[in-house]
Amino acid sequence: MQVLRDIVELRSHLAAFRQPAFVPTMGNLHDGHICLVQRAKTLGDVCIASIFVNRMQFLPHEDFDAYPRTVEADCAKLREAGCDVLFAPQESMLYPEPQVYKVVPDPRLAEILEGRFRPGFFTGVCTAVMKLFACVQPGVAFFGKKDYQQLLVIRQMVRQLALPIEIVGCETSRAEDGLALSSRNGYLNSAERAEAVHLSLTLRAVAVSAREGGQDFEALERRATEQLALRGWQPDYIAIRRRADLGMPDPGDALVVLAAARLGKTRLIDSIEIL
Ligand code: PAF
Repeated sequence: MQVLRDIVELRSHLAAFRQPAFVPTMGNLHDGHICLVQRAKTLGDVCIASIFVNRMQFLPHEDFDAYPRTVEADCAKLREAGCDVLFAPQESMLYPEPQVYKVVPDPRLAEILEGRFRPGFFTGVCTAVMKLFACVQPGVAFFGKKDYQQLLVIRQMVRQLALPIEIVGCETSRAEDGLALSSRNGYLNSAERAEAVHLSLTLRAVAVSAREGGQDFEALERRATEQLALRGWQPDYIAIRRRADLGMPDPGDALVVLAAARLGKTRLIDSIEIL
């Protein structure tokens, strides 16, 4: 696997390929990222992962400094998964000057749910992903469905800016007990780790009730929020939304249930499509 830190070198290395398949990450890789890489290997003629902890998508009080940087272990995992290229730019390579041009996504999609609790988050994500796309020039790029809203925001960005990139959403990888894999799970102590499964259990219960129908969605969301709070969580939201645009659902819409909640100092998010 080639490890490249320079945009010019990356572009010249990739020039020979027709269909670069790209997995953008912030590192501290787990099996979920590796599943994206394995998927990428089946759809491209070269597989590129990036590791870049993107300051722009962290609020001042968030965990940018504490975010785990584990590049050596990440390289070993990527190599083993058969990734061809790792792009790991320094901050000064991706942001050589203050970033005044930004990609500001549609507020109807980006200022709800995560965006309500993390103002500016999706502008940070879109600006970084747009720059990474400009560096890698992929034909196809892969994002996990755990970050469902991020996947939709990126899809809309690609569509609106007519980027010639196919966006593939991949199923959430989960631990045996159902907890969605996330780099932030590493912040949990053992008691919190045992409790953490209740986020996905709650989402599953909401999904089952919503599928059975005849129930007021707001009441379902409220009850689930109260139940998590009683277990010691601080829920930001549990929301049943239309899959296509995360709008309030109408009868017959395909649905997804999304949640974010804090357990101790760790904020976890998850989402489940309601089948
Ligand atoms: O999902 C992530 O890890 C990040 O938001 C991404 C897409 C790599 C952009 O920094």
